[in-house]
Amino acid sequence: MRLITNISQLLTIQGGPQRGQVLGTLGMIEHGGVLIDGEKIAAIDLSENLRQRFPTAERVDAQGMAVIPGFVDPHTHLVWAGNRAAEFEMRLQGKTYMEIMSAGGGIASTVTATRKASLDELTTQSHQRALTAFRHGSTTIEVKTGYGLDIETEHKQLQAILELNKIGPYELVPTWMGAHVTSTEFKADTPGYVSFLVREALPALSAWWQNHAPEQPLPFVDVFCEQGVFDLEQTREILRAAKEFGFPLKLHADEFANLGGASLAAELGATSADHLVKTSLADIQALAASDSVAVSLPGTPFGLAQSEYTPAKEIIAADGYLALATDLNPGTSWNESMQIVQAIATRYMKLTPAQALAASTINSAKSLNRDYLIGSLEPGKQADLLILNTPDYRDLSYRYGTNQVKMVIKKGHLYPIQ
Ligand code: NIG
Ligand code: FE
Repeated sequence: MRLITNISQLLTIQGGPQRGQVLGTLGMIEHGGVLIDGEKIAAIDLSENLRQRFPTAERVDAQGMAVIPGFVDPHTHLVWAGNRAAEFEMRLQGKTYMEIMSAGGGIASTVTATRKASLDELTTQSHQRALTAFRHGSTTIEVKTGYGLDIETEHKQLQAILELNKIGPYELVPTWMGAHVTSTEFKADTPGYVSFLVREALPALSAWWQNHAPEQPLPFVDVFCEQGVFDLEQTREILRAAKEFGFPLKLHADEFANLGGASLAAELGATSADHLVKTSLADIQALAASDSVAVSLPGTPFGLAQSEYTPAKEIIAADGYLALATDLNPGTSWNESMQIVQAIATRYMKLTPAQALAASTINSAKSLNRDYLIGSLEPGKQADLLILNTPDYRDLSYRYGTNQVKMVIKKGHLYPIQ
């Protein structure tokens, strides 16, 4: 047994996912302690009480710093090959993300590099990014495919995710995103590609999963519902087919245009709708009335130098669940750190540091259907936590650009960072 003591602020974030105005309830215990037994949290109490009750437990001295749950990053595209710095420069010169994509760049260029890469190369490059995210406090990270767009490469990306999970120490949650964009083999025939996804790729995914990871929860299925990519009807068709196979659902909605994706997420019982920059009030209300989580990715407008962000206040006022994620990807937002995401969300979405923190832990855990296991510090939950190098959790949003994690504890194992 291990006992973490000498904590300034212990933020348990207990009590389940936080809807609407409840967001930002941190369950702070000053001078609290955490008792860890193996992979799990065994007890939470005042440090003093735990020291008396468990005198023989091995002590871990937090040196007067704050302790919080590990961040859960619920939206990344971290398995890719190649680099798109040249596109970044094109955007700085005035080209838009969608213009570059229509001209054959964007996602398609990462698809070419990812198809060429061997499983080993893909795993090695992606491991570096996952490790960077872990060192910045992300103990669980969702990862999407979608840079293959053919059955074989999509499965190679899934295989990379499974391999990375064996390496760790981070934990990855897989999402299949064959519906990222229409593959070049189909030219501009999006309906043809949609029918390929529904008739061939989804059944192949179902069989592949049964063969490769039958004991693990099914991956999510995600669709890029966007003007010029997959429209609302095509998104509905793909997600309905995925639902019939039993896959839990996600979608990219309203990143650049309002197509009604958030309402579709509510209609289909998707676990989350992500991006939500151009979302209408009616869509926000439909989403907020459901159990789906609104996942905001403020690193993306920031990465694209755009001034519009997810309308967080409206989501909270409508009593929705709001979560935060990095969207780590080579096109719009190459950022591994949930700390930067909180720094941006507090400034541009007007969240308080406490709201940003709850949106990065318990609510993001809910957006992965994992809130029963991670996202807060409560007895019985997985021992995934961070010792910060500051006594005040608000510094996570206030300061930015440097890593404020001193030690990551993942499934009870200690990983000193600095
Ligand atoms: O979430 N919007 C679609 N997918 C990513 C970008 C992927 C890329 O450009 O490679 C996103 O922003
Ligand atoms: Fe994304």
